[in-house]
Amino acid sequence: MSKTVKDYIRTIVDFPHEGILFRDVTTLFADPRGFRMAIDQLLHPYAGTRIDKVVGLEARGFILGGAVAHQLTTGFVPIRKKGKLPGQTIAQAYSLEYGEAVVEVHDDAIQPGEKVLLVDDLLATGGTAEAGIKLVERLGGVIVGCAFVVDLPDLGGRRKLETMGMEVHALCA
Ligand code: PRP
Ligand code: ADE
Repeated sequence: MSKTVKDYIRTIVDFPHEGILFRDVTTLFADPRGFRMAIDQLLHPYAGTRIDKVVGLEARGFILGGAVAHQLTTGFVPIRKKGKLPGQTIAQAYSLEYGEAVVEVHDDAIQPGEKVLLVDDLLATGGTAEAGIKLVERLGGVIVGCAFVVDLPDLGGRRKLETMGMEVHALCA
């Protein structure tokens, strides 16, 4: 049987806290077939869709989003944890499966009306993606899709994003 994207992802028990089953995508990224398969599959739903910018969420969304942007020949925009971006930023607070945080984007990174694909490795509670969507929309960008490698549906992220009107695609659960 040929391997699927899910086959390249390992689960680490109790990381970073007791009770968390951490989906480790570094094993997917490290494998040439697995990584290419993931990028190809992330792109698939957007064939023929206008995309001006790919936005990646720190940190693993940078690896995936960079490769997706390269493939689409679009620009890439990082959404970073607070205090990392050097220019003028706007900020958005959010809560996640194991803590609270603030993310930021450069305030000139997206122009009003630009079509944006949001990319991250994993959708859990959806708090991180929701914050990213809000930042893009505050700059006037239009999200055409949210693409993830892993969706953990029990944590409600997909429902949250779909309730916001987002089109969500994930490669595995
Ligand atoms: C992980 C993951 C997503 C987010 C998903 O990142 O890469 O960005 O959590 O969780 P949520 O849907 O509940 O918001 P993490 O916050 O661990 O940051 P890191 O990639 O910088 O380690
Ligand atoms: N981010 C939030 N929950 C996660 C999980 N279970 N595995 C990997 N990253 C995560």
